[in-house]
This record gives sequence, C-alpha cells and structure tokens, in this order.
Amino acid sequence: MNTVAVVLGDRSYEVRIGPGLIARAGAEITPLLRRKRVAVVTDESVATLHLPALTAALEAEGIAVSSLALPPGEGTKNWENLARCTEWLLEQKVERRDVVLALGGGVIGDLVGFSSAILRRGVRFVQLPTSLLAQVDSSVGGKTGINTAQGKNLVGAFHQPALVLADIDVLATLPDRDLLSGYGEVVKYGLLGDAAFFDWLERDGPALRAGDAAARLRAVTRSVEMKAGIVSRDETEEGERALLNLGHTFCHALEKATGYSDRLLHGEGVAIGCALAFELSARLGLCSQEDPSRVRAHLADMGMKVDLADIPGDLPGSDALIALMGQDKKVIDGRLRFILARGIGQAFVAEDVPGDAVKAVLDEAFRRRPR
Ligand code: GLY
Repeated sequence: MNTVAVVLGDRSYEVRIGPGLIARAGAEITPLLRRKRVAVVTDESVATLHLPALTAALEAEGIAVSSLALPPGEGTKNWENLARCTEWLLEQKVERRDVVLALGGGVIGDLVGFSSAILRRGVRFVQLPTSLLAQVDSSVGGKTGINTAQGKNLVGAFHQPALVLADIDVLATLPDRDLLSGYGEVVKYGLLGDAAFFDWLERDGPALRAGDAAARLRAVTRSVEMKAGIVSRDETEEGERALLNLGHTFCHALEKATGYSDRLLHGEGVAIGCALAFELSARLGLCSQEDPSRVRAHLADMGMKVDLADIPGDLPGSDALIALMGQDKKVIDGRLRFILARGIGQAFVAEDVPGDAVKAVLDEAFRRRPR
C-alpha cells in the first residue's frame, strides 16, 4: 500500500492506495471512529458490486453499518438527492463526531462530501473512490458540490475528507471506456507538471489499460502525489490549483455542446482538451509543434478519443464553442483564461489568450473532422 499525505494543518489527511483496501476498510477506518457505527452512501450500481464486501469488512471489526444507494449517473448530483441524502443521514442520527462513508465515483464523492459539509455544520467523511477518475482527482482536495440548472458544480463547499481509501482492485470492475476516461486525468498530471511521468505513461500506459496492477498502483499514486502537493499549497484555488484545469476550458465547452451526454465522458473531454491546449500553446509559439503531436500520439496509442473528429454527432462551430467557454465559471472579469504549456510537464496559467488563436485551433480541428 502507498500512502500520500495531504498537508493542511489540523485538516491534514492520508490517501491510502493499494489492493484489498475495501476488504481492510474496517481496520483502516476504526481509528477515526468515536463509536462503532457508520453511514455509507453509494449508488445502486456500485452497491451491487462493492457494498456487500465493504459492509462485511466493517462488520468484521464490530462496526454497525447503515447504507443508502442513490441512482447512478451525473443527474443524481442535484438538490433533490442532496436533500434525500442529508435527511437520510439525519434519520440515521449521524452526529458531529460520527463519520460518513462515500462509496462511489465522482458524483457520489461530490454529493456526499457536500452533504457532510452542511450536516450539523460539518461532519467528517471518508472517500472510497471506485472510478479511476475519482481515485486520481475528485476524491482528493475537498471540492464538493452539486449541479443546478445554471451549471455544473456551482453550489458546493470546500470540505476535506478525513481519509481516502483508493482500492485499485475495484478498477477491474470498470468498463474499459470509463477506465480510459479516468486515464484522461492521469495523462493531465504528466502534461501539467511531470514530463518523466508522461514518458513513463507513454511506455506503460497500455499495460495499465490491460490490467497491470503495478502500473495502476504507480499511476494512481503519482497522480495523487501531484494533486496532494498542489492542494496542500493552494487549497482554495487562488493560484497554482488552477493548473489542474489543464484541458478543462475546451472540455467544458465540448461537454456543454454535447449536453453532458454519453457522447463525451468528462475524462474524454479532458484528454481532447489537453491536446487542444497543447495545439494552442504551439500556435502561440510557447512550445514546439512536436508536443501536441506527441500528446495526440499517446492518446491514440491508448485507444482514446483524441480530437473533435472522435466525438459522434453534430457539434456547433468554433464561434459557438468559444461562446460556451465564455460561460465557464473560471472566467475572471470576462477574460478567457487557459492553462497553456511551455512544453510537456510545464503548464502555466495564461490570462487574456487571444480569441483569434483559440478560433484558429478549433477551425483547424474542425478541418480534421469529416463532415
Ligand atoms: N478537479 C480539479 C480540482 O480539484 O481542483
């Protein structure tokens, strides 16, 4: 097992990564408990796969378990399910000194984390992320929240978990497409700040995809180390944490254009967005033209979506996509902000990116897309 510390004073916590962590969850969680009971919130799909094992592991340590399974899918991250989850936790008589467990992917982690933040003005919660995306990104760093009619993640709170248990065995139950979507966030870490990690992914990424446990452990651990370092230095995204949004300005526009549907999963949009961010960086003379080619070659090698051409169905044109970027919550004072790169592993925050360069990159991508 590998352990990564998120250092945040008296809110510091560990991310433990390894095989068999759900089977050991009772022993891992017991030191946090003031009384031997927990409330677990999950979704119906994850409940079928992993809730019996988690419940057995907790009960083996004498911990009483109650559980709630919400419907799966992004649509669950709304006011209605926030109310349902929070009222259920109150019905379970969860008190301020108790611990709530979030078992699932990013939707469950964000929703249950937010519910824990507002329940009795804040109770501790443990993240048990079951998707690759949640293990390497959303379970670490304390961003919690829900979606509203006005947009994604516009209502929420920073509420750090007390512990994260990332059991890499559960990745074996993921459909290949979901695994690869999470891999989009893994690649992002190499591209934003660790060229040697990207070199390693180019070599061992295919083994990771095929199920190599050592490769999965190393990829999740390095990703979490990078995220933990950034969050420890900039918890509330005043500066450096914005680097984690590499690829996300393009991604958010593409997700909106495809209606947050099955046409484009979040991590797929991140991967395409990273490739476009490197195209934009090269066009602005910041990095060599070989860098975006290398990014695209690796994504293609992994069997991932690489470009606008890989998104099925109609897309609006470049101007409409740029207008969708303008609605992004990370726009400051109406200026478009991008994460650009001076090379692989050398990302930085760029304010005031010229709109015509963004349009040229998108126009070029549309030219590569068959009509
Ligand atoms: N997923 C981006 C962040 O946690 O800041």
